[in-house]
Amino acid sequence: MSMLKRAGLAAVLALGACAAPREQPAESPRLGAPLQPGAVAAWDISIPPSGAGLPSGSGSVKQGALVYEQKCAACHGVGGTGKPADVLVGGRGTLASKAPVRTVGSYWPYATTLFDYVRRAMPITNPLSLTNDEVYAVTAYVLNLNGIVDADATLDAQALPKVSMPNRDGFIDEWARAKR
Ligand code: HEC
Repeated sequence: MSMLKRAGLAAVLALGACAAPREQPAESPRLGAPLQPGAVAAWDISIPPSGAGLPSGSGSVKQGALVYEQKCAACHGVGGTGKPADVLVGGRGTLASKAPVRTVGSYWPYATTLFDYVRRAMPITNPLSLTNDEVYAVTAYVLNLNGIVDADATLDAQALPKVSMPNRDGFIDEWARAKR
């Protein structure tokens, strides 16, 4: 063995010695206090297509127009026309074209997702700031802009999951296909 290799081997052995298991520290790592169920519940707010877990409260298209004007229009444009942020209206019939316009109305398969998304993420500068009534209302308003619910509609935990979205059947369920 050359001197060089010998020196290398010695270095590896020395490293190995360093990595040998040390004695357990007397204290356990301080990873923080166990989460209380209430603290978890505050973040456990996902709403599936069935609507399970939707909160009480309600909101109408009319009320939603007001919420929208005050808390959404600055970014999404008057009537959801977009700019500077995403357009929320239109695009029906464009999905199979070369320039698909994906909006809540043209693309989203479940109305419950709109409630979930707006509640958790919008306004983007102040997420989780809307009351449940405001979220129901602005959801109703955006759906009305898309011609999906009537102008006199009121949405709540019962009505929202029943809203039928235009692109509901536009997705391919790979999971179901794989099982076939
Ligand atoms: C300060 C600007 C701002 C405000 C105010 C705001 N949004 Fe948004 N919104 C955004 C941005 C930016 C995105 C894109 C976020 C992303 O893609 O991650 C977005 C995305 C969305 C989307 C998803 C659009 C899509 O098809 O992908 C919806 C729905 C939406 N906002 C609704 C609302 C509603 C309802 C309000 C009022 C309660 C609101 N937003 C207020 C900036 C804003």
